[in-house]
Amino acid sequence: MPTLSIYVAVSQNGVIGREGHMPWKLSSDLKRLKVLTMGKPLVLGRKTFESFGSRPLPGRPHVVVSRSARFEADGVETATTFDAALKRADEIARSLNVDEVCVLGGGEIYRQALPLAGLLHVTHVEAEFADGDAFFPAIDPEIFTAVQSEYVPAGEKDSHATRYVIYRRR
Ligand SMILES: NC(=O)c1ccc[n+]([C@@H]2O[C@H](COP(=O)([O-])OP(=O)(O)OC[C@H]3O[C@@H](n4cnc5c(N)ncnc54)[C@H](OP(=O)(O)O)[C@@H]3O)[C@@H](O)[C@H]2O)c1
Repeated sequence: MPTLSIYVAVSQNGVIGREGHMPWKLSSDLKRLKVLTMGKPLVLGRKTFESFGSRPLPGRPHVVVSRSARFEADGVETATTFDAALKRADEIARSLNVDEVCVLGGGEIYRQALPLAGLLHVTHVEAEFADGDAFFPAIDPEIFTAVQSEYVPAGEKDSHATRYVIYRRR
């Protein structure tokens, strides 16, 4: 059974987005995200998909969730419930023989995915943001344990230093 994995970058006070975008620039993190998710199915909310300019990320099948049955976009599949999106992404993972379904947000989708996720790939952004409007829930240490942790200093194209942590469900 493919693992359901969440990929998220989150500030020290739980912020993941502001006015439809991420309030930081983390080029190194996006590069790692690309490597780790390449070839794997992605599940994402309609608002996050629009934050990408309504274009799919190359090399990864997308299932975009919207309650509107009329929502459609070039190069992606759509689902009108979160459960249907997971089911379809699971089928895609099996057909491609990959072991992971990747949840890419945003806040509304993460809230629904967290109770089901086996792995969390979390980029902890070493800053607080006062004016965020999308959030990631606190990670309960009784439910998830950190199995890998790496400090990443801010590179030339990064606005902040980060800590990349993989959490596994206990
Ligand atoms: N820091 C990070 O790692 C990260 C990652 C991703 C996104 N973000 C940020 O997060 C923000 C967007 O998050 P968000 O919470 O506002 O939106 P979102 O989760 O991306 O999308 C919400 C939309 O998804 C659809 N949806 C959600 N649950 C559904 C369900 N059960 N069934 C059917 N459709 C469902 C609805 O679309 P309809 O309205 O069309 O029905 C809903 O309006 C942006 O600021 C983005 O930049 C940050």
